Amino acid sequence: MSLDDLYRRVIMDHYQQPRNRGRIEDGAVTVDLNNPTCGDRISVQMRVKDDTIKEAKFLGEGCSISLASASMMTEAVKGLSVDQALQLVDLFSRMMQGEDVDTEEFPLEDIEALQGVAKFPARIKCATLAWKALEKGAKGPTDDR
Ligand code: FES
Repeated sequence: MSLDDLYRRVIMDHYQQPRNRGRIEDGAVTVDLNNPTCGDRISVQMRVKDDTIKEAKFLGEGCSISLASASMMTEAVKGLSVDQALQLVDLFSRMMQGEDVDTEEFPLEDIEALQGVAKFPARIKCATLAWKALEKGAKGPTDDR
């Protein structure tokens, strides 16, 4: 199996069996965002306690890339501090710009399957939608952390 086939399988697995799809009952930061190019929407929630992301969930309508990416993101940020999560958002966004990112600090695991998206500029907004929602929620309403 080629690496592209493997990555495609990982993406389809997250799309068909999304992790952390649903709502957090209470005490959650919620950010709703849409992809302006297609109108698809995503709602990301996270519960932060003692500066740690204890739980992250999402709901939304979108393409396989956007929903698989949301599934991977919610898995990856669980247990990270808010600052670490923001660093991961930065790393992901650099990966989407085609940068060869240093993954020593954050093993990307399934997220790596999305790196090929960087070659398709029209899909980058799909892949980054959930991450932008997370970033907005993590930075808080004032954006001045
Ligand atoms: Fe709408 Fe991908 S086509 S989020």
